[in-house]
Amino acid sequence: MRIKTGIDGFDEIIEGGLLQGRQYLLSGSPGSGKTTFGVQFLAAGALAGEPGAYIALSESIDTIVEDMSRYNFHVNELIDKKKLFFLDIGPNKNYGEYNDFSTIITPDYDQKIDDSPETTPPSPQSVFKNVETLVKHTGVKRLVVDSLSAIRFTAQSPAQEERSIGKFIRNLKTLDCTTILLSELIKPDAYTIEQFASHGVIFLHNFMDKNDRMARALQIIKMRGTKHDCDMRTLEFTPKGLRVRKELKA
Ligand SMILES: Nc1ncnc2c1ncn2[C@@H]1O[C@H](COP(=O)(O)OP(=O)(O)O)[C@@H](O)[C@H]1O
Ligand SMILES: [Mg+2]
Repeated sequence: MRIKTGIDGFDEIIEGGLLQGRQYLLSGSPGSGKTTFGVQFLAAGALAGEPGAYIALSESIDTIVEDMSRYNFHVNELIDKKKLFFLDIGPNKNYGEYNDFSTIITPDYDQKIDDSPETTPPSPQSVFKNVETLVKHTGVKRLVVDSLSAIRFTAQSPAQEERSIGKFIRNLKTLDCTTILLSELIKPDAYTIEQFASHGVIFLHNFMDKNDRMARALQIIKMRGTKHDCDMRTLEFTPKGLRVRKELKA
């Protein structure tokens, strides 16, 4: 079954949409449109009878909701109707803000004893537990995790970090939600465990074009079970959200 993302011009280039229950990685530099893509995907689902949740690990929900309210996604209305959930499980957050989850979400301060809770990022295990609880309580079918980068740096060693990210993605697969994992794109040619473990990888680019103007583009790197190309396509920000246009000319 193909899941429509609601991103204008995107579903057409991936055979009609994402595959139900799978995990996708959306990677891009700051300001490239990851949060917008994620919220647009959740809002489209919420309007089509598939409620969704945005799991915020690095930025405050207030800021995200305020910024996303500028688009015609009907974010506040969908939150009120309990079709769209924002879950705050980053460091120094109010657990379960915007939802009634303060009693079921468990803060995770069981890492290094000398770490201050205000600065300690949550571990992949505790993030998964909280997401699992949320999915069971609300029946959401779409998830956005913002971001994998926030939980990447909690492990003691790079090998342990790889293992725990891999396990986190495998755990998410058991929830049967179509999931978009956001991550900071640092080196586009560095293959990371999240790229291997995800069913699809999408890059958002934000770069200086040959006329020295900032250009935005979307590129599909990998999409299992789907025929696609790897062309860079122009990405526009409109009042209705993101819009994927034609291929960028070299
Ligand atoms: N209402 C808007 N209309 C058009 N563009 C916007 C609007 N709001 C934000 N933007 C653009 O989107 C960018 C942020 O997008 P965002 O999805 O938050 O990126 P990321 O999550 O990758 O950091 C801003 O830097 C700005 O260029
Ligand atoms: Mg963001």
